[in-house]
Amino acid sequence: MQTQARRMSSTALTFPSSSSIAAVGTPVTRTRVGKYELGNTLGEGSFAKVKYATNLTSGESVAIKIIDRDRILRHKMVEGIKREISTMKLIKHPNVIRIFEVLASKTKIYIVLEYANGGELFDKIARHGRLKEDEARGYFQQLINAVDYCHSRGVYHRDLKPENLLLDSFGILKVSDFGLSALPKQVREDGLLHTACGTPNYVAPEVLADKGYNGTSADVWSCGVILFVLMAGYLPFDEPNLTVLYRRIQKASFAFPSWFSSSSKKLIKRILDPNPVTRITIPEILKNDWFKKGYKPPHFQPDEDVTLDDVDAVFNDSENLVKRETCFTSKCPANEIMSKIEETAKPLGFNVQKRNYKIKLQGDKTGRKGHLSVATEVFEVAPSLHMVQLRKTGGDTLEFHKFYKNLNSGLKDIVWTSEQSNEEPKVA
Ligand code: ADE
Repeated sequence: MQTQARRMSSTALTFPSSSSIAAVGTPVTRTRVGKYELGNTLGEGSFAKVKYATNLTSGESVAIKIIDRDRILRHKMVEGIKREISTMKLIKHPNVIRIFEVLASKTKIYIVLEYANGGELFDKIARHGRLKEDEARGYFQQLINAVDYCHSRGVYHRDLKPENLLLDSFGILKVSDFGLSALPKQVREDGLLHTACGTPNYVAPEVLADKGYNGTSADVWSCGVILFVLMAGYLPFDEPNLTVLYRRIQKASFAFPSWFSSSSKKLIKRILDPNPVTRITIPEILKNDWFKKGYKPPHFQPDEDVTLDDVDAVFNDSENLVKRETCFTSKCPANEIMSKIEETAKPLGFNVQKRNYKIKLQGDKTGRKGHLSVATEVFEVAPSLHMVQLRKTGGDTLEFHKFYKNLNSGLKDIVWTSEQSNEEPKVA
């Protein structure tokens, strides 16, 4: 049996210090924020700017969203923004622009984002015209994957539109600004062409009616408008007069171009249903035959630990670390602990393999990132005191947390102390 306990990992904080450096032989002054050197402006609105930047340590390109700190304070939006940024830091999906870290100076907040160097998807349409049905379907599938994944984490976009659809160097779709819906609209928007009074062509009728709405079905509507534009090369609802435009959106009054296939028309009709209650849902879209053609499930990168220390430092709050690893102690004999874990995990749908003082648990259901698998190990830390360590070795971190919560309540008779005070593993 192992007798040493491993330390949990933690990530050091980086605080930004803005300074200017002059490159040798050139008169150009470059601004630095922590380890990032700022470059060109990628987009600019009244309150936020997105700049290209280089990570001087790794040479990696990033995009940095720069927000005026005062504005957020004045809008009393600190908590909402902090919550959404924290959630977004945990979202790692191949079709969602990642938030790498959050930095701050006295006056600014810097959100360091994944850089998508293929430009906006809609520039492609502006340059080369509408897409063939198969190509449009491919982007729509990636969009739905991204939206579905974020919804499963309680994050809604609420403002899906062409400017938020970027491409990487491989042509993979990357949805930007997911989770930044807590920001005031002017802060979210980063281009001069789409400031607060931009036309609401992509906005669901119930959002326009301002009666309170469900983020899930509102995002589905916007995805439907995007699909239409990809295949048509123009908007389904487009009117110079705003009142007329609102009326057309409320009634979902639009016409299909002659080149749309009948199965694509059927699906779009179900998405652009003005009634959010009867509108098609994402699980139904995923089962739709037109949607399923050539579908490739998203490919996830292996997990690394994520720290929310930077978000806490910027937004000045208590520590909150999401882990793929957790532990508890027990005063029961090791064999008893092993049997109890086995007894508790089996009814939760886990296949159990025991060897020495290690147990491998494998979930029998496919989760968001494949089967959840957990490695468990019992360490003797003192005579008649054992530490039980649980480490996620595969699958989704949030599913691991749920599983741990269930396991913990099943093991309550043998648990002496748990790593966390509130029965839940800390989240990072
Ligand atoms: N414009 C706005 N956000 C961007 C990003 N993350 N990558 C590239 N261009 C952008």
